[in-house]
Amino acid sequence: MPAVVLIGAQWGDEGKGKITDFLAEQSQVIVRYQGGNNAGHTIVLGTEVYKLHLTPSGIFYPEKLCVIAGGVVLDPAVLLAELGDLARRGVSTANLRVSASAHVIMPYHRLLDELEEKARGAGKIGTTGRGIGPAYRDKISRSGIRVQDLLEADALAEKIRDNLAEKNALLTKVYGCPPLEPEAISAEYLDHGARLAPYVTDTALLINERLARGERVLFEGAQGVMLDLDHGTYPFVTSSNPVAGGACTGAGVGPMCVSAVIGVLKAYTTRVGEGPFPTEIFEEKGDLLRRRGGEYGTTTGRARRCGWLDAVAARYAVRISGISRLALMKLDVLTGIGPLKICVGYRLPDGTTLTNFPSNTRLLSQITPVYEEMSGWDEELGGVREFERLPSAARAYIRRLEELAGAPAALIAVGPEREQTIVRGGVFE
Ligand code: IMP
Repeated sequence: MPAVVLIGAQWGDEGKGKITDFLAEQSQVIVRYQGGNNAGHTIVLGTEVYKLHLTPSGIFYPEKLCVIAGGVVLDPAVLLAELGDLARRGVSTANLRVSASAHVIMPYHRLLDELEEKARGAGKIGTTGRGIGPAYRDKISRSGIRVQDLLEADALAEKIRDNLAEKNALLTKVYGCPPLEPEAISAEYLDHGARLAPYVTDTALLINERLARGERVLFEGAQGVMLDLDHGTYPFVTSSNPVAGGACTGAGVGPMCVSAVIGVLKAYTTRVGEGPFPTEIFEEKGDLLRRRGGEYGTTTGRARRCGWLDAVAARYAVRISGISRLALMKLDVLTGIGPLKICVGYRLPDGTTLTNFPSNTRLLSQITPVYEEMSGWDEELGGVREFERLPSAARAYIRRLEELAGAPAALIAVGPEREQTIVRGGVFE
């Protein structure tokens, strides 16, 4: 049962969309299993650029089954708009399936996300404002509304009424906002349900049946290990589990079906939102990376914070998720940026150096990164297809990363196009 989990190994935005698209070609089933439309994947196909937030990147292969599994929180209006846009551009969405168990992002989730962020003031998380945290909170407190509820008018109306009894008290009494109208929301979401109905099914059953048939399944993670609710830089994290283990809970499959975990890692580091970022560059080279790498959020358009490659964080991601291979992204962006730095340790004020990522997030605000400096290169890499043809400085940079992170770079991206990828070994084998 060859299932591969593909995850972000940093703070998200590593370029997972391109690798998912690349690996989707070798898969029969592609599954999104956590997060929601806080994610954004950019896929470049010839002259066409697609920005997807919920739809699995495999949608561009009409013969593949694409699944939005139960671990996702789903904003139905966003998914329907995405499907409408794909259809208008001639991309079939007939092979999409949506889990009946996925939780639904409601208008009050978006509203509360915004209000709570404002209330946090200087301590804000910098969320994407899409209602992700409040939707997962309702799921965990067992008051959430699921996709299957959108298909039954009476049950939906009752659940919305129950939820609003609490949310309206919060909105009016704590935040001084006007209350929301249950009837209008019920009507809107019932309509969404009717439009989504042809896609809705028991996706855990479907995926397990396909695995039993020996089909190749690609689990496509969103965000990244360092944003994981349990293992990331809490509280500056998202509300789901982007680590590889999240694929099992989110999709409803056992861990024994996973034969490889691919960690997608950018050749430098970026982060959006607040929170610790040990290798952040505050001077000119950070701006240069942002410009050259087009480091602006797909979802919110926010400028991403840019920094050097952090091998301490990469090794942590490899350990926490059992990453067997890395996909190294945007190597071409480093052309002309040298000399380059790789962070190999965190120095504490008392002079000791940590080489393992600390579980105490507070320590991260006290550390000074310890860097190894490496030569850069000036050659453009976009046309390179073989590892041995990369400039020797680029090869040395990759080899050092592999050594420090503890996993080989099986795929190396040298440009945004599907074919601008150096393949150094199979992924499903
Ligand atoms: P939320 O997921 O909207 O609640 O945001 C929580 C944190 O995760 C914020 O720092 C966001 O910027 C970050 N985040 C959420 N989704 C992504 C993503 O797809 N890429 C990068 N950062 C993300």
